[in-house]
Amino acid sequence: MSGAGTAIRCGVDARRVQRWTTHRRSVGLARRELRAALAEWGLTAIEEPAVLVLSELVTNAITHAFVRGRDIETSFCRGPQGVRLAVDDADERRHPQRRTPGEAGGRGLALVEALSERWGCSVRRGVGKSVWAVITVPGGRWL
Ligand SMILES: Nc1ncnc2c1ncn2[C@@H]1O[C@H](COP(=O)(O)OP(=O)(O)OP(=O)(O)O)[C@@H](O)[C@H]1O
Ligand SMILES: [Mg+2]
Repeated sequence: MSGAGTAIRCGVDARRVQRWTTHRRSVGLARRELRAALAEWGLTAIEEPAVLVLSELVTNAITHAFVRGRDIETSFCRGPQGVRLAVDDADERRHPQRRTPGEAGGRGLALVEALSERWGCSVRRGVGKSVWAVITVPGGRWL
């Protein structure tokens, strides 16, 4: 475990929740944790898309939802045929918006949409919001 994240294990390890600083290096550290979780859960088949999606969501939280003094939180939840990733941030005013990919960006959520079965943004308990995506094995369904 890196120093930047703290792990809270829930249930029989079906869910991993970790908190990260809004420093850029959190992206790589969170990716590493996801790889480990997927390996433990026998879900390496979806490692590539899941890691890409997580990278985009964490990068977005750090870039577009920075709130001084507030961390972000990742949660990985195992389903029978995939994983649900969520990245919580402390910014309630700004929300993810699908844009046409171009010079001004818009590639991150386009990638998330292409690689996930579904994705969305939910109100979070407490302050902020939760941006989530579900990645399933090919042909699989989420619950
Ligand atoms: N967690 C977030 N909080 C607030 N706004 C967000 C969040 N994630 C995305 N957004 C908004 O949605 C837009 C689209 O996100 P997207 O990731 O597709 O593009 P981008 O981050 O601007 O550029 P890039 O192509 O480098 O990812 C962002 O420009 C931003 O306005
Ligand atoms: Mg982005």
